[in-house]
Amino acid sequence: MKLVVFGANSPTGRLVTAMAMSAGHTVTAITRRPADFPFCDHRVQTAAADVMDADAVDWVTGGHEAVVSVIGVPPSVRPVTVCSQATYNIVKAMIGHGMRRLLCVASAGLDAADLSRAGLMRQRAIRPVVLASGRAVQRDVRRMEDIVRESGLDWTLLRPGRLITGRDVSDYRITALPASRPLTSRTDIAHALVHEVAHGEHLGETVYVS
Ligand SMILES: NC(=O)c1ccc[n+]([C@@H]2O[C@H](COP(=O)([O-])OP(=O)(O)OC[C@H]3O[C@@H](n4cnc5c(N)ncnc54)[C@H](OP(=O)(O)O)[C@@H]3O)[C@@H](O)[C@H]2O)c1
Repeated sequence: MKLVVFGANSPTGRLVTAMAMSAGHTVTAITRRPADFPFCDHRVQTAAADVMDADAVDWVTGGHEAVVSVIGVPPSVRPVTVCSQATYNIVKAMIGHGMRRLLCVASAGLDAADLSRAGLMRQRAIRPVVLASGRAVQRDVRRMEDIVRESGLDWTLLRPGRLITGRDVSDYRITALPASRPLTSRTDIAHALVHEVAHGEHLGETVYVS
């Protein structure tokens, strides 16, 4: 398939790119820092775009069969709109180009039900400013999820737990409910994305990867 990957230069995005190439897909890798992108291969082309720029997103999205988004932002005490605005721009571009398949990485911990009692206690113990900065991103990711669900596209939302580094793909689980202490290796979430884009086992679903 011809994939466009937003956030391709992130640690997870690089793994997605490598695994997608190994699986026989071609990738258009979107980053604001193309000079730092480490892949040089006929199956990958790099395009510079800021996802907040709707015209740029439209330009790089056309001509592909599926979109994978691993856009993310660091915690901030100020309002955050990157994930939601990026996703709005991506959905609009996909509809304009007649594309259907969209996979987005969200996050476990967006719903109160995702947090175990211990998790809630830990959250309350964290300094308020740290908590507030996390919440601004969470609100943005929640808005992103709503945009995806209301898009009318063939979407899948994947919610990883806290991301860790893992060298090999593990026997990770994809579940409808969160794990009690969600941890996810970037290798596993990348594998789940590349598998899902090819097989479409979770169309119209929000799933946890842990
Ligand atoms: N870290 C965690 O524990 C955790 C937990 C749950 C979910 N997640 C999610 O997992 C995903 C992958 O996380 P990660 O740590 O590997 O990556 P990351 O460090 O969050 O990087 C995300 C990518 O987003 C891109 N991006 C941000 N703003 C952009 C903009 N305005 N225009 C274009 N690109 C923009 C950046 O691209 P360039 O700088 O290359 O342009 C960057 O490569 C993210 O969606 C994150 O939210 C993370």
